[in-house]
Amino acid sequence: MDSHIVRVFLCRQISGTIKLSSHFVHFDEIFSIFNHFLSDFIEKRTKIKAVNMTKITAAITAVGAYLPKYKLTNQVLETMVDTSDEWITTRTGIKERRILKEEEGQGTSYLAIKAAEDLIKKRGIDPIEIDMVLLATATPDMPVAATAVFVASRIGAANAFAYDLQAACSSFLYGMSTAASYIESGRYKKVLVIGADKMSSIIDYTDRTTCIIFGDGAGAVLFEPNEEGLGFQDEYLRSDGQGREFLKIEAGGSLLPPTEETVGNKQHFVFQDGKTVFKFAVSNMADVSAKIMERNNLTDKDVHWLVPHQANKRIIDATANRMGLDHEKVMMNIERYGNTTSATLPLLLYDYERRLKKGDNLVFAAFGGGFTWGAMYLKWAYDAN
Ligand code: COA
Repeated sequence: MDSHIVRVFLCRQISGTIKLSSHFVHFDEIFSIFNHFLSDFIEKRTKIKAVNMTKITAAITAVGAYLPKYKLTNQVLETMVDTSDEWITTRTGIKERRILKEEEGQGTSYLAIKAAEDLIKKRGIDPIEIDMVLLATATPDMPVAATAVFVASRIGAANAFAYDLQAACSSFLYGMSTAASYIESGRYKKVLVIGADKMSSIIDYTDRTTCIIFGDGAGAVLFEPNEEGLGFQDEYLRSDGQGREFLKIEAGGSLLPPTEETVGNKQHFVFQDGKTVFKFAVSNMADVSAKIMERNNLTDKDVHWLVPHQANKRIIDATANRMGLDHEKVMMNIERYGNTTSATLPLLLYDYERRLKKGDNLVFAAFGGGFTWGAMYLKWAYDAN
């Protein structure tokens, strides 16, 4: 056999290109080469399989925000309606809120664009890489067309598709759920979720029961795939249509299109039965937060941060108490911004970003008109520097 020399043509695949080489070799050399290729092939296949089997989770990789400069303080409100700083502070925890004033004539898109641009700069990405822009808002620039589409174009996300999502104060939480699902499906790699509301455009500043609560603002997060098991872990989202009577804008939709009468009756402003909303918010936000802890075997020691919708300090305290959390673990900025509806959750992340550590367990909780509510468990994916 040794004396037999054979001419062999070997096809080799090196770095994706086919090379044809001509050699004179012995038979046992052929077997050895064949063996080598076979084991190399099996090893590569196993590696590819292992990579494909790695579970992709959806993680937040950047946060951005924008707040208008004008501060509407409790003291100023005292001059506008029959109220007091003491009443507002003890009943809600709010001291001031931001109002989009200086930039007159601008809508919610103005806030959303600023927040998205801030995020893009911080993350250092080219907006062309963004696959999708989701705008959580209860105050779109106009009913048609979707504000998200305008925002996506203005920030240069030319490859993205975009749409609005409306679930009142739970919009951003639901938006995070949507973004996480898209990322985990493997279909998209960069999903931008913006929460923005110009609440001052739908508030009656002669109604002391609502004008003391709401403010304008915007926050944004970027969701990307993570292979370390960080990011989205679990969610528990709920809704109940019986709630729509208690928190609504009655006119301007298909049910009651605008007329001189609806304008005269102030039916284009937010109406709220505060007591009923308060009752449902307290029990439901606490329930879902406790449920998400129980379902994931999380004790109060395991939870590093509660990220609660900023509707009322008393609702937040009740949720934290039910979870058994110390005050220091509860993110709170309601005293400075009031209730910014879709923007409260990303604004909390923005304000607390530097204190968050990779691997921290975060529980998000929200409640809003509709009613809509829910909780989400997420592992933080980066250390801000
Ligand atoms: N200043 C002074 N007094 C006020 C007032 C104000 N801004 N707003 C209401 N009042 C009065 C009421 O007229 C009432 O007076 P009365 O007893 O003479 O009738 C009294 O204060 C108590 O009103 P009530 O509505 O029972 O107060 P409250 O303790 O429930 O607090 C809210 C009102 C709105 C702060 C509270 O109900 C709340 O936060 N609700 C939930 C709001 C919310 O979360 N909305 C967003 C959902 S995401």
